[in-house]
Amino acid sequence: MPKVTVVDFMRTVLKEFEVEKGTKLLKALIDNEVDIVHTCGGNAKCTTCRVTIHKGVPTKKTQAQHDRFEKMMRSGATQFDHPAVFLSCQVVVENDMTVSASETFNRVIHDSPGKDTEDKITPDPVWVDHEVPDWWGG
Ligand code: FES
Repeated sequence: MPKVTVVDFMRTVLKEFEVEKGTKLLKALIDNEVDIVHTCGGNAKCTTCRVTIHKGVPTKKTQAQHDRFEKMMRSGATQFDHPAVFLSCQVVVENDMTVSASETFNRVIHDSPGKDTEDKITPDPVWVDHEVPDWWGG
């Protein structure tokens, strides 16, 4: 089974667990009590479930994520223009992966961590190729 390693931005390991191959990453993180916000419940709408994938970057992404990131970048949010930033609700765990969450629950900013999420990726995924540059090393 693939191993998910959760780190902070200093790469300190916060948690490690194994998941069934094909598990939605956001679901795996929530089920393993990782502090990550997921306001829209996994529908590629809110972007609060963003992760940076330090190792094991997927070579496919959903069209829904692609479209959401394009929209965010057009509004000037440059953090979405990075090949290792993904919406965890749009990622399927196929191999070992090391990730860090971008938004953790903070009562001042968020009323709640977010809505429950389904086991499957929503909306129904249309997969497009994702290029991982050599310089990232993931
Ligand atoms: S985009 Fe809202 S939970 Fe993923």
